[in-house]
Amino acid sequence: MRRRTSPASTSRSASQGPGSSVLPDPDENTRRRRSDRAGGVLVFCQDDGVEEVGRYVVLNRIGVGAHAAVYRAEDPVLDQLVALKVLAAHVAFDPDGRERFIKEARVMRRIASPRTAAVHDVAQLPDGRPYLVLELAERGTLADRVEAVETGGTPLTTDDVRAVASALGSALAAIHDRGVVHRDIKPSNILVRPAPDGHPPDGFPGGRLLRDDDFLVLTDFGLAKALESTRLVTAAVGTPAYMAPEQAAVGAPIDGRADIFAASAVVAELLELTEGPRDARVHAVLGRGMSRDREQRQPDARTWSEELVGALDSIRATVTIPSRATQHAAPARPASPVPDAQPAGFAGQPEVVVVRGGVPGGPVLVAVLVAALIVVAVVILVLLDTTGGA
Ligand SMILES: Nc1ncnc2c1ncn2[C@@H]1O[C@H](COP(=O)(O)OP(=O)(O)O)[C@@H](O)[C@H]1O
Ligand SMILES: [Mg+2]
Repeated sequence: MRRRTSPASTSRSASQGPGSSVLPDPDENTRRRRSDRAGGVLVFCQDDGVEEVGRYVVLNRIGVGAHAAVYRAEDPVLDQLVALKVLAAHVAFDPDGRERFIKEARVMRRIASPRTAAVHDVAQLPDGRPYLVLELAERGTLADRVEAVETGGTPLTTDDVRAVASALGSALAAIHDRGVVHRDIKPSNILVRPAPDGHPPDGFPGGRLLRDDDFLVLTDFGLAKALESTRLVTAAVGTPAYMAPEQAAVGAPIDGRADIFAASAVVAELLELTEGPRDARVHAVLGRGMSRDREQRQPDARTWSEELVGALDSIRATVTIPSRATQHAAPARPASPVPDAQPAGFAGQPEVVVVRGGVPGGPVLVAVLVAALIVVAVVILVLLDTTGGA
């Protein structure tokens, strides 16, 4: 592999000191080097000649988000693959952006759950951009899986949806129990990796979304807040399609129920990929989860997932869902914080209720039979009347 001269490692442990002292501002040389590049952006992959960062050998880029690019890399010392999350240049040189990035690493370390990607280190590129060294989730994201299902055109089953609902419930409970609200739950922030030892996998054998040993993990804690400091929220942040209404209001208190809203939106999106009419009970649970008023939502993630899994388990009928083209023409949810309609996530969607235990088409059949009986009865009465009158 072609390699650039290895830069001196600027890696430091996240535990070495608070705030910006962990990652000092770039020095003059770094500033000059940065300004030599077009737009001040030193792109970070093989094609740009940067293949080695600290002790990590960059293999390929695996994701780009709003604030960072993420690379698959090899740690030759520990002989393992890792993910390097490099803060984007447009935020990397803003003190607040850098501070938020360090906080993200600290929050992830504080949670330290199998349901979050582990943080190995926080360090700095020679050009001054900070990066996190994360456990690599080698199976992509839930967003990738959804895209594959949409492209493949095979509908999901309620078991697929149930697996995600259950895993998301566990993941949210894990972070909420540790006093953290994520505030940006969405498919691209949900990673897939093999189930760790001692943990039951999330997938079902034969599942269409998750493989039988897949395990969902949360990442991107860039917007996460400690529960005790959520009254200090100073900016409206989140991803509009999944964002709880209270996240749009500056200064509004936030708690775990904001994540319940977003998780409900994720599950509602998956339900769109199943077949058949909507189940009233599942619809009601998701509607509650996406209530505008958080007091109306499930009080915690465990309750949310128990209700949802219970409702999904009770479905025995299958259902039809809009085709991909229809979904694109009419998105499942509004693209901005949901207006007054409640339940928020289902505004504008037809509500079709499954009749459990009935024969398909049963109600229509009964109506036809009743109508036929009435007609026969009327004919007999008329005939009797005619005969009696004769
Ligand atoms: N630990 C990881 N393992 C594998 N892929 C990851 C990992 N972290 C992030 N990614 C990929 O990079 C993308 C962007 O990462 P994310 O942390 O969400 O950054 P941003 O804050 O910019 O949204 C994710 O959607 C995912 O595709
Ligand atoms: Mg993200």
